[in-house]
This record gives sequence, structure tokens and C-alpha cells, in this order.
Amino acid sequence: MTDFAISVKKLKKSYKNMEVLKSIDFTIRLKEIFALLGSNGAGKTTTIKILTTLLRADSGTVKVGGFDVQKQGRKVRESISLTGQFAAVDDILTGRENLIMIGKLRHLKKPKAKAEKQLAEFGLTDAADKPLLQYSGGMRRRLDLAMSMIGNPNVVFLDEPTTGLDPQARLAVWNTIRAMSKSGITVFLTTQYLEEADSLADKIAVLHQGKIVAEGTATELKKNAPPPKLVLSFLEKSEMKRAKETLTDYFMEEDGLTISLLTDGSVKQATEVLSKLEIAAIQATFAQQPPTLEEAFLSIIGEGAK
Ligand SMILES: Nc1ncnc2c1ncn2[C@@H]1O[C@H](COP(=O)(O)OP(=O)(O)OP(=O)(O)O)[C@@H](O)[C@H]1O
Ligand SMILES: [Mg+2]
Repeated sequence: MTDFAISVKKLKKSYKNMEVLKSIDFTIRLKEIFALLGSNGAGKTTTIKILTTLLRADSGTVKVGGFDVQKQGRKVRESISLTGQFAAVDDILTGRENLIMIGKLRHLKKPKAKAEKQLAEFGLTDAADKPLLQYSGGMRRRLDLAMSMIGNPNVVFLDEPTTGLDPQARLAVWNTIRAMSKSGITVFLTTQYLEEADSLADKIAVLHQGKIVAEGTATELKKNAPPPKLVLSFLEKSEMKRAKETLTDYFMEEDGLTISLLTDGSVKQATEVLSKLEIAAIQATFAQQPPTLEEAFLSIIGEGAK
């Protein structure tokens, strides 16, 4: 047994003559939350479909839970669950009825008891008897997740689990996903949101123009970003004006009573800036601002901050 929940090697997929995946590789460890990050049309859903045996790869090797998706599709399907971008739930049925239906499809011995447990765990007991037509987006996603956990999968695939949710519902879904991972499940999710990958994922892979252009923890990816900025804050507009006149050698961005200097991140340069302010007796406070994942992302895909 390997300690990888998923391994993908030299995976290629084209639709007719459009190459969507141009030989991608990545691995996911057991119990990890892995985020495949990419813009619209990057190939995230295509990748998920191949990993969940819904679509055949053109070439490459994909293993999920130790099983080959091409040769051992049934074994793979038995150990995973998939929550699609457009979830397949029945709108007329209630939340409880949907859960019971899935339990029966998964051949559970006590589908009703399991449905109650899932409703409680995912905060849906009060909404159990409403048809899904009356659910909000956030409630639907929670029900999707509750359904995906029936049958005790080892690996859960979530295609854009929080797209379209308001911030509060998004946080609730994030907490649910964290709880899934704590309970020992490997989570593969796709997202277009950098902050989602940043806050949730143990490991991130960036899919861009058919290739994985970066892979690692959020912290590792941020190392590719421009160096931290030096942020200076002022109490008085006049002090800020004097600082700008003193620091004409630097690139800066202004925002209210703060200016951010683009530096090379070195002690030497920070000391230089601060001592110039000190010598001119300018009243200011300073802080270092680490790069955001967004800056890292833009710099990785080559549209980065200058
Ligand atoms: N069945 C198909 N036939 C032809 N082209 C397809 C098919 N499915 C997807 N594509 C194309 O392949 C590319 C990747 O699509 P995919 O759905 O995997 O992207 P995605 O990253 O999931 O995008 P989104 O963020 O919009 O969900 C897109 O250009 C899409 O138009
Ligand atoms: Mg998609």
C-alpha cells in the first residue's frame, strides 16, 4: 500500500482537437485536503470526471485509493463519493427523503437512522421535511455534503463546493470539509477562489493552460510571489506628503493614510527606508505585509505584479 490516496501521472485529455490536460502530474496523501485551483475552463471538472471514472483519459496513469481508474473502475467507485458542480438531487423530495434514497442506493442496512444522523451532523434537522425547492444555496450544499458521506467513502470529490454561496454559508461548508478531513477522509476539491484554497487546503495545485504550473502548500506557493511590502501608516496627511518626498526612489502604492513600498524584502533596504524617515523626523508606523496567494498566483501564471 502506498500512502498516497491519489496519484496522477502524465494524464492527458483532449476534446476533439482541443487539448485540455497536457500531461499533468500530482499526488495526494491520505487524509489531505487537496485543492485544484484554476480559472473557468481550466479543466478542473474534466480532471474530477477522470478521477471518478466518469470520463476516460487519453493517456496516463490515475490511481485512486490504490486502484487504477481505467482497469479497476468499480473498486474506485466503491471507495469514493462525488459531489458534482451541479448536484444531482431531487428537488421535489425533502432533505430527509433524499438522504434515505441515497442510503438505499448505497445498500445501507438502516438508511432511515443514517439519514437522521446526517441531518443532525450537518445542521439540517429543522429543514428535514422541506422539499429541496425551498432550500437556500447553503443548505443545498450542506445536504450535498451529507449525502456524499453516506457509504463511508475514503475519498470525497467536491467540484466547486462553495461557488455561489454567501460568506456565511461558505464558512459553514469550509468547517464541514475540515471535519470530514479530521475524520480521516481524503478531500479533493476544485475551486476558483484563492482564499478558499489558502484557508482550507493542505496542498494546492494550480492548473493553468492544461498544465500544473505550481504545487505545494499555500506557504510554499507564496514563496514564488513578490517579496513582502513595507507598509507605512501616518496620522497626518502632511507627514505622508513629506514621506513621499523623502522616498522618491521607491515604487509605492497609496491608500488613504498608508503607503506600501515595493522592496526586495532585505533588511538592508528596510533599514534604509526607516532611517530616511527617522532622519527627516517623520511620524509613522511600519509593518511588513506578506504577499497574498493572489499575488503568488498571478506571478506563477506570468501575469504577476511588476
Ligand atoms: N464534453 C466536452 N466536449 C468538448 N469540450 C468540453 C467538454 N467538456 C468540457 N469542455 C471544454 O474543456 C475545457 C475545460 O472544461 P472544464 O469543465 O473541465 O473546466 P473547469 O475548470 O471545470 O471550468 P469551470 O470553472 O467553468 O467549471 C473548457 O474549454 C470546456 O469548454
Ligand atoms: Mg468545472
